[in-house]
Amino acid sequence: MEKQFHTTLQSNYTLFTGEVSAHSPSNIALIKYWGKKENQIPTNSSISYTLTNSYTDTILKFTPKTEKGYDVKVYLEGEYKESFAPKIITFFERITAYIPFLEQFSFEVFTSNSFPHSSGIASSASGMSAMAICLVQIEQQLGAILSEEEALKKASFLARLGSGSACRSVYKGLVEWGENDFIEGSSDLYGTKYPDHEIHDVFKTFHDTILLIHEGQKTVSSTVGHNLMNGHPYAERRFIEANENLQKLLPILKQGDVKAFGELVEHEALTLHAMMMMSNPAFILMKPNTVAALDKLWEFRRETGNQLYFTLDAGANVHLLYPAQDAEAIEIFIENELKQFCQNGNYIQDKVSF
Ligand code: PMV
Repeated sequence: MEKQFHTTLQSNYTLFTGEVSAHSPSNIALIKYWGKKENQIPTNSSISYTLTNSYTDTILKFTPKTEKGYDVKVYLEGEYKESFAPKIITFFERITAYIPFLEQFSFEVFTSNSFPHSSGIASSASGMSAMAICLVQIEQQLGAILSEEEALKKASFLARLGSGSACRSVYKGLVEWGENDFIEGSSDLYGTKYPDHEIHDVFKTFHDTILLIHEGQKTVSSTVGHNLMNGHPYAERRFIEANENLQKLLPILKQGDVKAFGELVEHEALTLHAMMMMSNPAFILMKPNTVAALDKLWEFRRETGNQLYFTLDAGANVHLLYPAQDAEAIEIFIENELKQFCQNGNYIQDKVSF
């Protein structure tokens, strides 16, 4: 299967100096990927919304060189970051079988995020997906013939090897990753865009307001987090349940059942955190203000009937999910009642991308 991603470049391609660029949004999972096997193969299927306003922009400059080895310099918001190179080099090592020219150029990566680096929003999904898209562009400039569809699929395949969830950031809308027998074309190797015509319009207008409860580094890296699922007493059941939940979500998406959607998505978020609390060592990634915000949200939903739901990433921030039709009342509630739980009063207003 991986064979399809080997380069089609002939060995006599000509090197030149140039630059490419990519814009890639972050994504938020509805059914969570948590646990992986060798080579970034997920232990269950997942699906996420690609966002709009939370993104990475990357310019990749390349200059031919003759010495052996990788040469990468990374600049974040214009500032040289020596500590970022090892992550890119690990990525290069993983993808060198599919991108043959990595040792033949000196690379300079100029990258910037729309969200503050310290916000606790993971930049690895948008960052790795932007890098992967850039590398496929260079491969094409050197002469590889790829259709637009093939180029995106390859970018998603490469992005996965940088950071699993990054493979879902290559496409807009809802993107599925992980092979199963109920989504046609699903694969462990790359993300697949879930067809827009299978999604009710109400789910195409969803807002995602991200409450920045705790700015700063996460207390568990996702590498450590995924590893916690090895030997976890509930892991096998969790992997089965994730696939069951994805299968349950599909008719909900088609029918436009916002209540069923919200309940399932909240269950997934809490399960992700519960798995971490039950792991060894254990992690509690919610902060007191995360819990306070969730409590207020549930109270608001009970009292007003507004369709406001949440999901969580592997951190303390809260993603508020709601359809555009309820946005006015909900955004007043966020400003008046939830903002107080955000560190520095900061939140990000985002939307799903279709
Ligand atoms: O892509 P990674 O290895 O950073 O893992 C991300 C895992 C979650 O964000 C917690 C869930 C997901 O599916 O995105």
